[in-house]
Amino acid sequence: MKGVVLAGGLGSRLSPLTRITNKHLLPVYNEPMIYYPIKALINAGIDDIMIVTGGNSAGDFLKLLRNGKDFGLKHLNYTYQEGEGGIADALSLVEHFADDEPICVVLGDNIIENNIRAAAAEYRVQGKGAKILLKKVPDPQRFGVPELDGDKVLNIVEKPTDPKSDYAVIGIYFYDATVFDVIKTLVPSGRGELEITDVNNHYINRGEMTWNELDGWWTDAGTFESLLLASKLVAKDGANKI
Ligand code: DAU
Repeated sequence: MKGVVLAGGLGSRLSPLTRITNKHLLPVYNEPMIYYPIKALINAGIDDIMIVTGGNSAGDFLKLLRNGKDFGLKHLNYTYQEGEGGIADALSLVEHFADDEPICVVLGDNIIENNIRAAAAEYRVQGKGAKILLKKVPDPQRFGVPELDGDKVLNIVEKPTDPKSDYAVIGIYFYDATVFDVIKTLVPSGRGELEITDVNNHYINRGEMTWNELDGWWTDAGTFESLLLASKLVAKDGANKI
């Protein structure tokens, strides 16, 4: 399985912090934000990794991460997303890299306390379709929210005003190679983006979606509140524990 970190977009919710640098280069406690999703992949045994950058200061990713040696990697791959076409648009850029293998995708502003080893192992056995990870949150309106029926996820709504559960779909996804065909069928949402939630609903409608509940805390770091919370959680507990 190959790994993808999506670190494109313009980070406009964090302006002016993101006016001259990239959101994913901002500090979360003692490390740049981008370190955390990279470590989440490595802890799951995934060492062939593509970083999708974009927006401001894209060249600084190369200066910071170089060839990945600090993470014990032999090599890192980079590509560049023009504009802010959405998470699924950023993902479409890695089709050639994925080369028909399954992928684990981590959003560049998502941070986890523990690891995704169990979910990755289960997805390897599953072999096809997709897997998402869910976490109970106090503010589901900010996220993609699943409607559940026991073990089954019926659908996901992006930032619902009336959430059907108190779970968020976190920004770590497992997909087979058909994901790129799914993305080609998408149309931009109301916010002008190709939505990862639409990708996930395709897999749900095909009956090929599974989910796990993540253990340990999870947060994004894309707003002032969540960026501060992320730093506090990492300072208190550490992140990416094995
Ligand atoms: O954090 C989890 C949530 O992330 C999910 O629950 C939502 O379903 C999903 O849509 C996403 O919601 P956000 O609105 O919070 O995503 P945001 O626009 O903040 O983008 C998250 C990351 O995705 C960002 O740090 C980099 C990457 N991204 C985003 C966009 C819009 C790209 O690489 N390119 C893009 O064009």
